[in-house]
Amino acid sequence: MIARMLTGERTIDPTLDLFAEIDRLRRERKALILAHYYQDPDIQDIADHLGDSLELAKRARDAKDAEVILFCGVHFMAETAKIVNPSKIVIIPDLDAGCSLAEQCPADQLRAWKQRHPDHWVVMYINCSAAVKAESDIICTSSNAEKVIRSVPAGKPILFGPDKNLGAFLIKKTGRQMDLWPGACMVHETFSSQKIAALKARHPDAKFIAHPECEDHVLQLADFIGSTSKLLEFVQKDSGGKYIVGTETGILHTMKKHAPTKELIAVPFEDRTAACQGCNSCPHMKLNTLEKIYLALRDLRPRIEMPEAMRLRALVPLERMLAIS
Ligand code: 13P
Ligand code: SF4
Repeated sequence: MIARMLTGERTIDPTLDLFAEIDRLRRERKALILAHYYQDPDIQDIADHLGDSLELAKRARDAKDAEVILFCGVHFMAETAKIVNPSKIVIIPDLDAGCSLAEQCPADQLRAWKQRHPDHWVVMYINCSAAVKAESDIICTSSNAEKVIRSVPAGKPILFGPDKNLGAFLIKKTGRQMDLWPGACMVHETFSSQKIAALKARHPDAKFIAHPECEDHVLQLADFIGSTSKLLEFVQKDSGGKYIVGTETGILHTMKKHAPTKELIAVPFEDRTAACQGCNSCPHMKLNTLEKIYLALRDLRPRIEMPEAMRLRALVPLERMLAIS
């Protein structure tokens, strides 16, 4: 039998019907498969639940019958699942599926920032490690960020991180002054306002919709700004017929399914340089594959684990967020 090496000693028979095997294993393991909209289409299609960061955190918290949660997303999302539902075995297809935002904000540096601003509230975007969550007063996602900022007592100064673009968007929206951590999403920060303006000129009947992780010069061109699930909802409900979609390309799969009559154009469009073969694709999210999902279900690893003391501290700001979401 020919076997292909995947990760270290983990091998897989290339003749396996992965869809059938994943189905068998998910039943055997009593596993719930959660997937983010930025996953590859095949992964989105096998998920029990598909959603944005907030929806998936809620699905993980509410997973009662499952014994295993397989999180097809990135590390901070799987960590969040473990924090809110610690009795489950939480597995992720690839432990290296990180996030540029989480990487740019190490917990020791956040602690030093807090020490320089002891009277501030710390509001952290969910795209951060459990250690950073443990240092935070409240967490937000892109779909509830405005509500979370408005929940901070008036007059209380705010430290916001790690996404400076989401932070700047929230300052504009709420009028609240905040000190911003200098992090950014490596996917959304590559979008070019010049190319988008050219695209809009070529498609005057298209609306440009964008994720708030985009930089301000890009957001200024947007007809609608929202989280992945809000962008999806907008395309479904809006009366228009054509959209330039300013977020990671994975979401186009579900948008096409839910709004089959709408024309969708990814950003950037037809204009990739040799240095960038797919600027709108998250290299972390795309580390997950059906093969790795099969192996994770078969071996119940890699698992998400963390010290209980850290989990309990990280749970407090997450529960504050969930209580108002
Ligand atoms: P949402 O799922 O909240 O839209 O965030 C997008 C994202 O970049 C997740 O990493
Ligand atoms: Fe992180 Fe950006 Fe990838 Fe989302 S798209 S996981 S924010 S690097």
